[in-house]
Amino acid sequence: MVLLLARGLAANFCGKKIYGLLELVIALVINGTNHQVDVDDDTPLLWILRDTLGLTGTKFGCGVGVCGSCTILENGDGVRACQIPASAAAGRSFTTIEALSAEGNHPCQKAWLAEDVAQCGFCQPGMIMTACALLKKHPQPNDAEIDSAMSDLVCRCGTYPRIRKAIHRAAAEMAKK
Ligand code: FES
Ligand code: FES
Repeated sequence: MVLLLARGLAANFCGKKIYGLLELVIALVINGTNHQVDVDDDTPLLWILRDTLGLTGTKFGCGVGVCGSCTILENGDGVRACQIPASAAAGRSFTTIEALSAEGNHPCQKAWLAEDVAQCGFCQPGMIMTACALLKKHPQPNDAEIDSAMSDLVCRCGTYPRIRKAIHRAAAEMAKK
């Protein structure tokens, strides 16, 4: 996979960032699709997703790696998109909430609706992606495992009890398949 592509001196006249004599374009995979993005190397992956690729399902909360609103998946594990600069995202593959199901048929999406989890909803994409990571590791998590997995995500609306119920519901549906 191409990590960094040199684009040449012409970009200098367009006000693009030049690294020595070369501008860098970063290649990465989002939801199974290859992308090449022309951004500064310190641009957070969160901005690449939202502003460059138009994938606005991933939310900006704190921007400092604390709240978990920007959680996406890498190899099934939750990672915080606000904490991954473009230079570090190069050559990696990530999954955002847009990849779960456009029709809302993923068990977590259905469970979230059934349990009426969201209040303002802002934190919920990160919660759902973290739940997906949990259910991959623990298909039938107990309350302690759920609380541990979700403990470093912040919901300002206090939806934690409903999140726990939704994860149990999603686990039950996944177990039927
Ligand atoms: S926006 Fe990334 S952890 Fe808060
Ligand atoms: S639902 Fe409002 S912040 Fe979580």
